[in-house]
Parts: sequence; C-alpha cells; structure tokens
Amino acid sequence: MSVSSSIGSVHVRAPGKINVYLGVGGRHDDGYHALATVFQAVSLYEDVIARPASDFSISVSGPDDPDTVPLDDRNLAMRAAKLLAAAADYDGGVALEIRKQVPVAGGMGGGSADAAAALVACDALWGTGFSQARLHELAARLGADVPFALHGGTAVGTGRGDQLNPALARGRFDWILVTSDEGLSTPVVYERLDALRAEEGAFADDPPLSLDVPVPVLQALRSGDAEELAGTLFNDLQAAAVDVRPDLDEAIQLGVRSGALQGIVSGSGPTVALLCADPESAQHVQAQLRESGVESLHVHGPVPGARIIS
Ligand code: C5P
Repeated sequence: MSVSSSIGSVHVRAPGKINVYLGVGGRHDDGYHALATVFQAVSLYEDVIARPASDFSISVSGPDDPDTVPLDDRNLAMRAAKLLAAAADYDGGVALEIRKQVPVAGGMGGGSADAAAALVACDALWGTGFSQARLHELAARLGADVPFALHGGTAVGTGRGDQLNPALARGRFDWILVTSDEGLSTPVVYERLDALRAEEGAFADDPPLSLDVPVPVLQALRSGDAEELAGTLFNDLQAAAVDVRPDLDEAIQLGVRSGALQGIVSGSGPTVALLCADPESAQHVQAQLRESGVESLHVHGPVPGARIIS
C-alpha cells in the first residue's frame, strides 16, 4: 500500500522519564530482567519532525554531541519508522528530524521517546490510522521503555517494563536533573547488577521473576506529597550504576546537602534526579548546585506522552 498524503510534515513531541521506583528481579531466557517500576514522564522532550521521502533517513541535533547518535538501523526511531511501514504495508519512506533535549544514554529513555514519537509521526504522515493499542504493541517490540513514552503521565511497568498500568498521581513533582557528559550503557549496568548479586550472594534463591511495586510508593504518588514520595524513591540499578560511576553517589549527596528531599539515579543512569519540595525549592537547589560548579536542569512531572504538536 502507498498512502498518498497531502500533509507536508508532522511534528511530534515525546517526554523523557524518571523511574521513581525500579525493582529488578531475575533474568529471563531472552536476556531481559523482570521489572516492577513506576515511570514518571517529565518536561524534558524529544521533538521528532517527519517529512515525506521515498527513502528512510535521520538527522539529529541537540545539546549533546549529535555524533554519538547513530543515523542508521541502530537508531530506535529509524527502526520504529521501518517497523510501522512493514506493519502497514507502506512502501514509501520518511525523513526524520530529531531535536534532542533528553540526555543521550542518560537513563531517561531519550531513544525510546524518539521511537515513540517516530511511530506517532509516521502514523499521521502516512495516514496509517493505527489504534493506540496497535501502536503500543509495536512500541513494545522496539524496547522495554518505548510503550511508556507513548503513554506518558505516571505508570506502573511490569514484565520487562513494557506492561503498563496507569498510576494515580496528584499534583506536580519538581525534579532537578544532574546530567553527565558521558552516557552509561544500559546492558552494561544490568550486567553489573547481575555480577554484584552473584558476588554478594544477594539472593539465597534465584531472584524473583515476578515483582510488585510496594504500596507506599503508589500511596505517595496519590497523595501528591513530595516529602512522602522522597521516602519511597528506590532503584535496584543504582548500586550497579554507582559501582561503574562512583561520582553519581557524590552528586546525590551534594543534591541533598543543597536542599533536595532525596536523590536517585534515573533508570540505568548516569542522570541523577533530585526530588524537591516545590518549584521554589528546586530553584534554590539549582542555584546551590551552580555555586558548587554543577549545572543542572529543572523539570516537572507528570506530563503527557507522545503527542502531535503540528
Ligand atoms: O529494551 P531496551 O532496548 O531499552 O533494553 C536495553 C537493554 O537493557 C537490554 O538489551 C537488556 O540488556 C537490558 N534490560 C534488561 N531488562 C529489562 C529492560 C532492559 O535486562 N527489563
């Protein structure tokens, strides 16, 4: 099928995420670990503009070195566009322009946001008309975090992190993000966790292959009380990320000394997310960090998932 479209271009915006809670269980035979996580989409966005083309191409711009982002089939947005084309039996192509704000390999799902945005943009550009459920199914085939970037808001992820259920979250949470110049590889951090667990004999039995998010985390989100949520922040990957990059622990300590309620490594890192009491407190933390020579970003969540801007 070749759907001719009169649309000149489609601009889609998708958010980065923080894992407010990330419990990691055992490894399945496919290499993926069992997860119980709570994602929160935050106001740091990837913009993807899709333009008609006979072939598939990608260009990338943004504050991080764009040369570190592959422009071929290793790029998740490219894979997303091709997967949608195959599923829709569409024989044209697309030129994708990605404007990045989410740190590259930062543990905030930037590549997953690109893929989710590319799915939504190509669906609109090509007039594919896939349902949200169908897009979700394609998203899950691209990566564990991609369905959440489509979904946005606050959600519980189980399975590989791709089985989503919305979580009730009241109000707004303010986060200060300390990013790193150098990214961390997600598989490397998971492998380090396995190695640490093997060394420490952390589990007498095999790690569980099914986990739940503890009720206090969900209660804190429902209450909208940042202080309550700060007490429940947890990330099983943090010890592994800190083992690879000990400076991340220092960034968390500095954040707390600067007035943050609590800090956590975001996903597999290296971005550190500092939860603050309110917007004013976040501004204060950011100013204190700057005095210590540390630049940071002020974001808030939850925000919506991938959506068409124009
Ligand atoms: O799905 P995604 O491509 O984002 O995952 C990147 C890598 O992270 C996987 O190849 C795997 O090594 C690790 N991972 C995992 N268990 C998960 C999610 C990701 O081991 N649930």
